[in-house]
Amino acid sequence: MALQTDGIVLNNRKIKSFYFLLEIDCPSIANEVKPGQFVMIQTSKDHHPLLRRPFSVYRSYSTRHPRKEKRGHLFILYKEVGVGTEKMASFKKGLRVNLIGPLGNGFTLPTLSSSTTNIIIGGGVGMASLSALGERLKKGKLYVFIGGKTEDDILCENDFRRRKGLKIFIATEDGSRGKKGTVVDLFQSEMKRFNRNQPHHLFICGPEGMLKALSRVIPREKWTTQVSLEARMACGFGACWGCVVKTQNTHLVYQRVCKEGPVFSWSEIVWD
Ligand SMILES: Cc1cc2nc3c(=O)[nH]c(=O)nc-3n(C[C@H](O)[C@H](O)[C@H](O)COP(=O)(O)OP(=O)(O)OC[C@H]3O[C@@H](n4cnc5c(N)ncnc54)[C@H](O)[C@@H]3O)c2cc1C
Ligand code: FES
Repeated sequence: MALQTDGIVLNNRKIKSFYFLLEIDCPSIANEVKPGQFVMIQTSKDHHPLLRRPFSVYRSYSTRHPRKEKRGHLFILYKEVGVGTEKMASFKKGLRVNLIGPLGNGFTLPTLSSSTTNIIIGGGVGMASLSALGERLKKGKLYVFIGGKTEDDILCENDFRRRKGLKIFIATEDGSRGKKGTVVDLFQSEMKRFNRNQPHHLFICGPEGMLKALSRVIPREKWTTQVSLEARMACGFGACWGCVVKTQNTHLVYQRVCKEGPVFSWSEIVWD
């Protein structure tokens, strides 16, 4: 159940260019959150911006976690893009921050076996929730495709490195890291590795342009694909209908990214 609660900033450091890692002591949310869920953070006490901002939980450690020094801590990996994230970038150790969470549905973990193929495709800060999920994909092969405009936008690569049965692919639009081009181009060029008629599990999160391009590439038949969407949010908990996305199952219906999502089955999203 989502709570409104205070957390205490323990650390907030720049990891590269516009990217920061925020560590907050917040046991009530850390005990509940699962990969793909998010929190709404009040970035300022002076009401500028007025609305909270949504962020995926990148890491969480419950109060029973074996790493005692991390117990009750939440980590947010964020990019400074505007007024709210600029305020976050100035958070100092000891600051009391108001949060609502955990929110949204999160990823559904598939039943895994040694013959399972899991594929992660992420762009920019979309990798935060995918990295959290990757920690739980302990069995089977794991293929991770990470994209960004430049090498500074390649995030979470090292989070996967120790995983057995792993293959990582990197693409940057300016060619400063990995293959030059988009992560979608790269995925498309590697698709021959994956049998279209075998069941694979795909997990996707990234900017809208990346998702739309992927919609022309991902086979719908046997693959189970979950996508975590981003939308501008006002309330974050289902009250304002400001974050809807068009979906189609038996009929066309608008669903709230914050409440029914942010994770949706790929096949139900209408990509117009
Ligand atoms: C479920 C969810 C999870 C998210 N997880 C993360 C995360 O883990 N790390 C992270 O850095 N960001 C994440 N975001 C995006 C983050 O919420 C926005 O970057 C943030 O709200 C920007 O606030 P701001 O006040 O700094 O920017 P603003 O001043 O409000 O806007 C600055 C610029 O960013 C664009 N922008 C703002 N919000 C979004 C959005 N949601 N989608 C697309 N463009 C946007 C605006 O159009 C504008 O161009 C997530 C969003 C959602 C919905
Ligand atoms: S942000 Fe208000 S309903 Fe989703």
